[in-house]
Amino acid sequence: MTVPRTIAIDGPAASGKSTLGQILAQHFGYLYFDTGILYRAVTYLALRLGYDLADGAALAELAASTVFRVETPTVDDGRQYTVLANGEDVTWALRSAQVERNVSQVSCHPAVRAALREQQRQIGIAGRVVMAGRDIGAVIMPDADLKIYLDASVEERARRRTAELLKRGRQVDYNDVLADLSRRDQADSINTYVAPDAVALKTDGRTPEELFRAVLHMIEA
Ligand code: DC
Repeated sequence: MTVPRTIAIDGPAASGKSTLGQILAQHFGYLYFDTGILYRAVTYLALRLGYDLADGAALAELAASTVFRVETPTVDDGRQYTVLANGEDVTWALRSAQVERNVSQVSCHPAVRAALREQQRQIGIAGRVVMAGRDIGAVIMPDADLKIYLDASVEERARRRTAELLKRGRQVDYNDVLADLSRRDQADSINTYVAPDAVALKTDGRTPEELFRAVLHMIEA
């Protein structure tokens, strides 16, 4: 079996990218890199610093001038990794409702995407990575050895996201999460690509373990 050096996982919000990505990364001893955190970090900083979220050029400058780092967890509080923006721990701030509401607007600016593209490509070039996002297989790592596109019905994704948020202590309602995911799907669709050579997997009713086995089987085949 030829083990892929680079694995791209794309798909909409709450489609299971992080769970599968982390299992694969752990299995192969690779870095797991969730590119959504870059867009979230720019959104968080922009909101805090009072940027106009319609000003793509200013946001792109903010993105280009911020040093992002992802490290193994530094605090034992349920996090899967620690995200640093200019040395500041922003790990949980990236998951706030305010960031969720605004991140699509920030990530839709072509100038912001261009500013973050190079940082993502450098990580891809180093290899031994599982990178998750929306445009990884088509734009960021078009030469990835394995490309997976994950999807699930919006209802299934809303159920998962609601359970995840409740577990984290957030008071949320399934219908609000469903409405929010539908809105984000629409806003993100312009930057979401299914690479022509990607393997598409539906995750409804399938456990992460089943999906992991299916991917391993594909690699072996
Ligand atoms: O996967 P996520 O929910 O953490 O992504 C946050 C936002 O970033 C989402 O609105 C889509 C955007 N995004 C993107 O446009 N391209 C990527 N490669 C990753 C995320």
